[in-house]
Amino acid sequence: MKKVDVLLGLQWGDEGKGKIVDVLTPKYDVIARFQGGPNAGHTLEFEGIKHVLHTIPSGIFRKNAINIVGNGVVIDPIIFKKEITALDKLNVDASSTLKISKKAHLILPTHRLLDAASEAAKGNSKIGSTLKGIGPTYMDKTGRNGLRVGDFLTAKFKEKYNFLKEKHELMLKQFGAEGVSAEVENEWFESLETLKRFELVDSEQYINNKLKAGHSVLAEGAQGSLLDIDFGSYPFVTSSNTVCAGACTGLGVAPNRIGNVIGIFKAYCTRVGSGPFPTELFDETGEDLCRIGNEYGSTTGRKRRCGWLDIPALNYAIMINGVTELNMLKTDVLDSFDTIKVCTQYKVNGKLTDQMPFDLTETVEPVYIEMKGWKTDLTGFTNGEPLPSELKDYIAFIEKQTGVPISVVSVGPDREQTLFQNVTSVIA
Ligand code: GDP
Ligand code: IMO
Ligand code: MG
Repeated sequence: MKKVDVLLGLQWGDEGKGKIVDVLTPKYDVIARFQGGPNAGHTLEFEGIKHVLHTIPSGIFRKNAINIVGNGVVIDPIIFKKEITALDKLNVDASSTLKISKKAHLILPTHRLLDAASEAAKGNSKIGSTLKGIGPTYMDKTGRNGLRVGDFLTAKFKEKYNFLKEKHELMLKQFGAEGVSAEVENEWFESLETLKRFELVDSEQYINNKLKAGHSVLAEGAQGSLLDIDFGSYPFVTSSNTVCAGACTGLGVAPNRIGNVIGIFKAYCTRVGSGPFPTELFDETGEDLCRIGNEYGSTTGRKRRCGWLDIPALNYAIMINGVTELNMLKTDVLDSFDTIKVCTQYKVNGKLTDQMPFDLTETVEPVYIEMKGWKTDLTGFTNGEPLPSELKDYIAFIEKQTGVPISVVSVGPDREQTLFQNVTSVIA
């Protein structure tokens, strides 16, 4: 029986997961999203096309691969319909390759309103949510009030919808917020028809049957480990388990069926929304990273905060996820830097530590080492071409600090700008 490989982000999201899933899809029969929802924005670039996916797995552009939206995902039918329309325009026919779990929960229009009202009420301590209704939908899931995709196949669907909507409207009133408009509600119900065009499956059965039949499966994470509901910088996190264990619950795959865990990280760090970020730069260098890396959110267009690579945080994410190989993305963004800093330790209350403190919001001072930049345009590099020695040093340093080999170095957003590394000999 085959195992499920898991690909996930090790930082605060937007590490480049979509690009790598697209690159790796030819190796897999099935690609499956296991958590999150349209708060995700996964960008793919190939053959002059730039496309952002929110709910649909990033294997959708490769013919033959089956793409599954798993039970751990939350779906907004309105956004889903827009995604399908955008794919139709590119002549990508997902009708036979995209399957949706009946157990995935639905984001109602009132969930989005509650997200906005709750954020507004938080004032300065707001999470910086994408306002897609993610938190309220997962709250209804764990509160055992949620509506699932499979519910719309039942006669009681409208009744259940109204019951939940009424509960939400009461809550909105308490926030002093408006209820849902008839127009949006109609759009939501109309959009459900698009969802119904796809095969609705018990994805846990579907995936396990595929594994038994010897098919290969890649689970695609959304957000990043430092946004995980349990292990992220709580409360500035998302509302799902973004870590590897989330693939087990979000797809119905047993822990002993997990194979390789591919950890995606940027050669530096970014964060969008509020919350602690120890290596954040508030100077010109931070602005340079933002400008060169075009660090604006794929879902909300918000400017991403930028800083240096943070090894204690990376090692924490590697530990929680059991990462077996690393992929370093956006390496080219550092091409023009004379020197590159890496945070190797934190100073917390005057004491040096390698560990993530309980509360990242307390004063965490990053301790840096400085490395020489490679000052080479990497964007045209092809596989097999020798890398600049300073970049080799950067790679070797990260591998030594983490104990995990870097199997991919990405040097641009395009599918082709992907350098595969021989990882057999790198770790002593
Ligand atoms: P995801 O959410 O992890 O899939 O990442 P996003 O798509 O939100 O953000 C990553 C951004 O970086 C996208 O605009 C990608 O096109 C872009 N990107 C991915 N890999 C690279 C790379 O190696 N170099 C550069 N310059 N851009 C990249
Ligand atoms: P991908 O999959 C980056 C952040 C938001 C906010 C916090 C909570 O593209 O990497 P939510 O809408 O989930 O309630 O927001 O999490 N966030 C992301 N940041 N990439 C994402 O997804 C994100 N999804 C949520 O900015 O700080
Ligand atoms: Mg993103």
